[in-house]
Amino acid sequence: MNVAIVGTGYVGLVTGVCLAERGNDVHCVDNNPKIVEKLTSGQVTIYEPGLDEIYQRNLKKGRIKFSGNLEAAVLRSEVVFLCLPTPPGEDGSADLKYILQVADDIGKILARNPAAGYKVVVDKSTVPVGTSEKVEAAIRRHADAKIEFDVVSNPEFLREGYAVEDFLRPERVVIGCGSERAVAILQDLYEPFIPAGNPVIVMDERSAEVTKYAANSFLAMKISYMNDLANFCEAVGADVEKVRQGIGSDSRIGKTYLHPGLGYGGSCLPKDVKALLKTARDAGAPLSILQSVEDINQEQRKKFFRKVEKHFQGKLDGLRVAVWGIAFKPNTDDTREAPVFHILDELLKAKASVVVFDPEAMEGARRRYGDRLEYAESSYGALQGADALIIVTEWNEFRKPDFGLMKNLMRQPVLFDGRNIYDAQKMKKLGFLYHSIGRRVVESHVI
Ligand SMILES: NC(=O)c1ccc[n+]([C@@H]2O[C@H](COP(=O)([O-])OP(=O)(O)OC[C@H]3O[C@@H](n4cnc5c(N)ncnc54)[C@H](O)[C@@H]3O)[C@@H](O)[C@H]2O)c1
Repeated sequence: MNVAIVGTGYVGLVTGVCLAERGNDVHCVDNNPKIVEKLTSGQVTIYEPGLDEIYQRNLKKGRIKFSGNLEAAVLRSEVVFLCLPTPPGEDGSADLKYILQVADDIGKILARNPAAGYKVVVDKSTVPVGTSEKVEAAIRRHADAKIEFDVVSNPEFLREGYAVEDFLRPERVVIGCGSERAVAILQDLYEPFIPAGNPVIVMDERSAEVTKYAANSFLAMKISYMNDLANFCEAVGADVEKVRQGIGSDSRIGKTYLHPGLGYGGSCLPKDVKALLKTARDAGAPLSILQSVEDINQEQRKKFFRKVEKHFQGKLDGLRVAVWGIAFKPNTDDTREAPVFHILDELLKAKASVVVFDPEAMEGARRRYGDRLEYAESSYGALQGADALIIVTEWNEFRKPDFGLMKNLMRQPVLFDGRNIYDAQKMKKLGFLYHSIGRRVVESHVI
């Protein structure tokens, strides 16, 4: 099938590459010429495990191309995916200007080309309830009634870090559309991806739009609940990791998204919770539980930093602090809304000298802090002469380090683990002073 992808970021590039991998002919459009140039010349623009390999294969086979030419892409395609940003506006609502601008452009293109044929315009971006109708109106405004198109809400559930895997083998596909013709085309397109037994759920546009926000907000709620519980465990001398295992083995609760930490970040959960809160308030049906989810999330990173301040009695001036992890989670280079930024801002404000390391996301820190930070070549490189190490992102390579080497490199073996990746008792035996989340501080006698 001929497919156009508009917006070639995390969602658009993964969607385009995976559709090409299943034999579709894909034309990706982006209005950022640098992205188009890089992707045309064989350089993948984001880090996602497995993406580069299938991107290279499909580029060589000529099944995917990149340009800034929306008109060419739309005219040759039966399906047009909108994978555009929906950043939060000042009041928390999702800003629809990118989506509606492109819808407007598509309307003009269809009006100029009345013989273009039937198009399915698919909204893959996360958008507030009612957006499908706005997209349809923006196109229809230009194209007369004879132009045939349908608008579908097809929210994307991929997880950064597992995006390729999630797209190639989705747990479910949601298709929100009242047109049988459009639904049949999308079912056909997705058919080679759906593992046996996983559902394609067809519903109306509004329910599809709400489904995406409901899913992300539920995940955010699990995370905030565990972070709140972690603070309670600390206060009463319980171990949140044991509690996590105790409740996660209950199939009604499930094991995922129960890990306490520094709170959620990234390009989706923070903005989606805010947007749903705003839409619900506007609809006169406030989702008050989500306000607490959001508040706990903001507070969590602040609480964690207060542990660092408390340990050093508020005197961080002149201390050398190593930070492992910039990305908002492992296996991505995405640093949007990353919790690390609060930690780094506070360390710099307190005049600590800060050295950072992340396997993939150093650029995100460089863009924001320039030469106010030191950038290490390796995790161990960051530890040379450090008075403390703060672990922010649980990359696999941080999970089993050479603790002996770490201790030798550091000036003080003080560790603040924002992801609970180590066993507290083991850290004690190894001679670290170990702070984590929702567990007692462990102080070694051999420091
Ligand atoms: N990133 C995720 O994990 C994820 C998962 C599910 C859903 N989503 C949703 O998908 C949408 C896209 O997210 P993303 O992370 O891929 O965003 P992104 O910022 O990585 O990519 C968006 C791309 O659109 C391009 N763009 C902007 N305006 C354009 C225009 N007028 N014409 C052509 N291209 C244009 C930008 O240059 C950019 O490359 C958002 O609504 C997001 O909430 C994201």
